Amino acid sequence: MEYKITLLPGDGIGPEVVGEATKVLDAVANKYDHTFNFQERLMGGCSIDKYGTSITDETLADCQNSDAVLLGAVGGPKWDDPKAKDRPERGLLALRKGLGVFANLRPVKVHPSLIDASPLKPEKLKDVDILVIRELTGGLYFGQPKMRDMRDGKQYAVDTLEYFDYEVERIIKLAFELAKDRKKKVTSVDKANVLESSRLWRQIASNIGTQNPDIQLEHTLVDTAAMRLITSPASMDVVVTENMFGDILTDEASVLAGSMGMLPSASLSESTVGLYEPIHGSAPDIAGQGIANPIGTILSCALMLRYSLKLEFEAQAIEKAVDAVVSSGAKTADLGGKLTTRQMADEIIKKIEEN
Ligand code: IPM
Ligand code: MG
Repeated sequence: MEYKITLLPGDGIGPEVVGEATKVLDAVANKYDHTFNFQERLMGGCSIDKYGTSITDETLADCQNSDAVLLGAVGGPKWDDPKAKDRPERGLLALRKGLGVFANLRPVKVHPSLIDASPLKPEKLKDVDILVIRELTGGLYFGQPKMRDMRDGKQYAVDTLEYFDYEVERIIKLAFELAKDRKKKVTSVDKANVLESSRLWRQIASNIGTQNPDIQLEHTLVDTAAMRLITSPASMDVVVTENMFGDILTDEASVLAGSMGMLPSASLSESTVGLYEPIHGSAPDIAGQGIANPIGTILSCALMLRYSLKLEFEAQAIEKAVDAVVSSGAKTADLGGKLTTRQMADEIIKKIEEN
């Protein structure tokens, strides 16, 4: 089969990890007889530099017209001026909204050979296998009004946390759907003791819970969830939450896996078009050195094969190859090893070809 994949390498280490991940996709295409047609576009700081905007209408349209989008990372000190009219991150948010990718899946697994890479006690990390589902196109990131102003001679700023029932419903339903193939347990995270939007969230989650008696539903306040992720992460399986809560909790959860560089994500819409990106940022401090960990991006490619291209077997081929390479002790600098970005990807490609 033939597929169109838009690559948005972005800024910082983005081009390095996307470059290597594309080679992995090429290896899969070769081995399993598929054609992946890549088209590369600018998004983020690089797009501001070239076009004066973090995402052009053409780039967004090209993404909408592909089977899937693979993104590296956006942002960096060069574009960090708080007074700037546009920011790399705005391009990413416009892309998420424009693709309608309301559900951001962030699986967090602890590989047995990386237990020592995490600052947590090994016994806490045993059996950790969490799927965080972060709402991605609503909540505090997009709510209106969102602005700065002067009020009574004072500077004033506002962001709004708003949700419609249908936005909450579709993400909770997806969480229940995905829980069916896992441990049949959903942890819904909110702040219902304070926030009205969370009380709506909880009410909808409870209703869907009643309709799905085979799935165990628990409600947890976000502050408690933050604590539980560290004290008893193995007690969580599918976790579903609001955009900003999910942003914060997934950075926290990445500590369990030993390095942010390990973790992939898939952002899904009502259609099969999806956006795939590692959860790490552009890491300007190590950009250009060829030492970034490409695994988060390579595993994001596996999720792309699974969810957008419906190539489950090929998705597992990548996951198994990564697993074998990590088990063999291969490590990039973030994990305390010496492999370069390219060497790590080459190891993974070798495994795919061998299997
Ligand atoms: C993430 C990032 C983004 C977010 C930034 C870069 C806008 O932190 O994907 O988690 O906050 O969603
Ligand atoms: Mg984040």
